[in-house]
Amino acid sequence: MSDLKPVEIVKELDKYIIGQNQAKRSVAIALRNRWRRRRAPDELKDEIAPKNIILIGPTGVGKTEIARRLSRMTDSPFYKVEASKFTEVGYVGRDVESMIRDLVELTVNALKVREQEAVREKAQAIAEERMLDLLLPSRQPSQGSLESPPDPMALPSTPAADTREKLRALLRNGKLDERYVDMDVAERSMPTVEVFSNVGMEELGINFKDMFGGLFPKATKKRKIKVADAMKLLAEEEAQRLVDMDRVVREAVEKVEQFGIIFLDEIDKIVGKNAGQGPDVSREGVQRDLLPIVEGSTVNTKYGPVKTDHILFIASGAFHAIKPSDLIPELQGRFPIRVELDSLSRQDFVRILTEPKNALILQYRELIRTEGVEVDFTPDAIERIAGIAVDVNSRTENIGARRLHTLMERLLEDILFDAPDMAPQKVTINGEFVDRKLKDIKNNEDLSRYIL
Ligand SMILES: Nc1ncnc2c1ncn2[C@@H]1O[C@H](COP(=O)(O)OP(=O)(O)OP(=O)(O)O)[C@@H](O)[C@H]1O
Ligand SMILES: [Mg+2]
Repeated sequence: MSDLKPVEIVKELDKYIIGQNQAKRSVAIALRNRWRRRRAPDELKDEIAPKNIILIGPTGVGKTEIARRLSRMTDSPFYKVEASKFTEVGYVGRDVESMIRDLVELTVNALKVREQEAVREKAQAIAEERMLDLLLPSRQPSQGSLESPPDPMALPSTPAADTREKLRALLRNGKLDERYVDMDVAERSMPTVEVFSNVGMEELGINFKDMFGGLFPKATKKRKIKVADAMKLLAEEEAQRLVDMDRVVREAVEKVEQFGIIFLDEIDKIVGKNAGQGPDVSREGVQRDLLPIVEGSTVNTKYGPVKTDHILFIASGAFHAIKPSDLIPELQGRFPIRVELDSLSRQDFVRILTEPKNALILQYRELIRTEGVEVDFTPDAIERIAGIAVDVNSRTENIGARRLHTLMERLLEDILFDAPDMAPQKVTINGEFVDRKLKDIKNNEDLSRYIL
């Protein structure tokens, strides 16, 4: 669990997202509240429910981006999913409970990787011993299972222990990497089981492969593989063996229940305006299915039952033609915090182009630099791009900062195409260049509808 204070969370988000301070503050508070709850008196802990949030704002102003950055920052179990992906229980498709199962799965895997990382050295040491056993069966030390017989110079007939140490040194120095060794390798695919598909079984969280994998001994096959690859396999196998999966699963479930965060993107897509007919019926169904999960219920997963009472939900949507009040009332009540994101101004666009750590201008500059061409943007060029973005957004469709992507691509098209054949040079992009490339299109509304 990260100990970041709200102000630190906002500061981190500031590195990538321009403006939207209210939204940043809300998610930062919600995140910190998890930390606070953990320290609250025991008798209250269970009573403190997360305050779910809806982020509302026009398209392309940073809603999804906030979620993406948040997920990298917090070490709470975090899962982002599009609400529009779900279908009502009983219909073909993913039911909403699958997001809890996915969150648990993700968390188990993340914890497993972390644990394996922690035992890596130990696993590596065991793998080394096993490899030496393979290379040098203890009873006949002189007849290793190396494909080519051991070089008599490298392996003088010394007592076995001595030879083993010499081999170890060679192994560690990578001198044996290219040799082949016979090894039992687990068959990755089990064709007979492959016939079953998991479709339809998903509700139960049952995976046939996992089931059978446990029932039957793993099919193995003797294969010749390079020592370097064999070492990797052995180390991996040993790492898996060293990790106590029962504990990992227990910890993962606990972590999900206490600190899980689900980002429900595109929640407005499950609102049907004239509910009662057509696909809208199913959308309302999805909302109704969501209720118990958001409110707190128990979802069965293949790792056991998971309680959702304390999982934080952050929903987001453009709410373009509809309002949050079009959500079914019960659901509205479960998202008490509403935050509106601002539309982006020309000044925001200038900053988005230049300030974030992954700013577009930077991305293009580095991309083109790989061809030996340096592009430079004058401040005046950036102002123009931002201006045109605002202009096109207002005259055609407002797609927010995404407009900058289409504009930049158009602006740099020639350079992107020709760069491999251009002599190493510096290209300065100034306002005049921007006007030349974009003005005609911009002034022609039909054209800009299609191109920009
Ligand atoms: N405030 C911002 N600061 C920096 N970049 C932004 C900002 N808003 C949007 N962007 C950029 O614009 C693109 C689209 O933003 P994002 O995916 O967050 O849109 P959204 O608000 O989720 O829209 P939608 O409602 O269509 O899903 C991203 O590449 C993002 O980097
Ligand atoms: Mg989005």
